[in-house]
Amino acid sequence: VKLTTRYRFAASHRLVSGALSPAENARLYGKCNYPYGHGHDYIVDVTVEGPRDGSGQIVNREALNRWVEERVIAKLDHRNLNSDVAELGGKVTTTENLAFAIEKMLATGWPHAARLAGVKISETARNTFELETK
Ligand code: NI
Repeated sequence: VKLTTRYRFAASHRLVSGALSPAENARLYGKCNYPYGHGHDYIVDVTVEGPRDGSGQIVNREALNRWVEERVIAKLDHRNLNSDVAELGGKVTTTENLAFAIEKMLATGWPHAARLAGVKISETARNTFELETK
């Protein structure tokens, strides 16, 4: 059985690569490269998968919520993704890179019997990024 639980956080960022000139950054990232950054209301869907345990559930919902809140939401909510998130250190703060950072935050020390099956992030109403955890 798979369970997907939705979480939300707000954060600011700016797409900029230290390996590129200002002109190249502007060309590559467009308005996402504007100097003072911008914000998103991100939606994160965390999917876990496993067999039902003696309680008839695949994971204790409260324990999962606590894990996601502590490991992910507390580190990202109302933060600047370019400066405040160690797991993103040095990387361009694309939502693709953010998905991998969130997966790492979740997976490190993962305490649940059900396995982490995937992370999905919506940056805007139009764009959703999905990462399947192997
Ligand atoms: Ni953006």
